[in-house]
Amino acid sequence: MSDTKPFDPFRSKRLIYRAVNDTLADDRFVHDIQRDAEAQSGSSYGLLRPESMKASNAFKQHIAEKCLLGAIICLPATRGDWGDGAEEPVGIICLKANPPQHAHHRWTDISIDIARDHRGKGYGSEAIQWSLWYAIQMAGLHRVQIVAFSFNEGAMKLYKKLGFKEEGRQREAMWFNGGWHDYVIHGILEDEWREMQKEIEPR
Ligand SMILES: CC(C)(COP(=O)(O)OP(=O)(O)OC[C@H]1O[C@@H](n2cnc3c(N)ncnc32)[C@H](O)[C@@H]1OP(=O)(O)O)[C@@H](O)C(=O)NCCC(=O)NCCS
Repeated sequence: MSDTKPFDPFRSKRLIYRAVNDTLADDRFVHDIQRDAEAQSGSSYGLLRPESMKASNAFKQHIAEKCLLGAIICLPATRGDWGDGAEEPVGIICLKANPPQHAHHRWTDISIDIARDHRGKGYGSEAIQWSLWYAIQMAGLHRVQIVAFSFNEGAMKLYKKLGFKEEGRQREAMWFNGGWHDYVIHGILEDEWREMQKEIEPR
């Protein structure tokens, strides 16, 4: 991080990361992401079902209270002719909290969903890189994992590009849409992440 910039741990190049709020707007945003079948099938191991508001609210509460980090990924507010606009939510990112009796293993698991209209613009990459920084530099973790299902080839390609290594594959551990798919664990270690930081610009 540059010495001249004020310390802002909840900001990366284009994005900000804020808490999940107890507002109708956040209820709706989380529900919209959760009811998107493509997002659900890419990120949830559970049986795909029509998403109720009650289920989305339970998930929202989980992000807000049970994760090590649960944040809404936003584009900063823009300053327009009519005054300041609002921050625009573009996704959700979470780092799993392990139970206290597992905390000494110092690892976490990333889950991420970018809203449909905002995919493919680099926000997922930026948020994952930021969450690695947060996990290692702020939370003091040693290993970060991210899971992908083998039909989600785009996501697997992306994680490898971001420096994750394929660590293991549970073959045909997932039944989805008439076929068997692998459950693929990707991980990155603290030292590997530090090595990568030497080659990229500061956050
Ligand atoms: C996977 C996901 C987080 C990636 O975020 P993103 O902002 O769309 O990705 P970026 O714009 O940073 O990166 C684009 C890259 O991601 C890859 N990618 C990942 N998922 C993709 C998808 N569903 N469609 C197209 N590209 C995808 C592409 O290969 C692309 O690589 P390229 O730049 O070499 O062409 C996002 O697409 C998403 O939320 N998808 C739905 C839910 C999901 O699958 N979550 C992942 C759980 S493991």
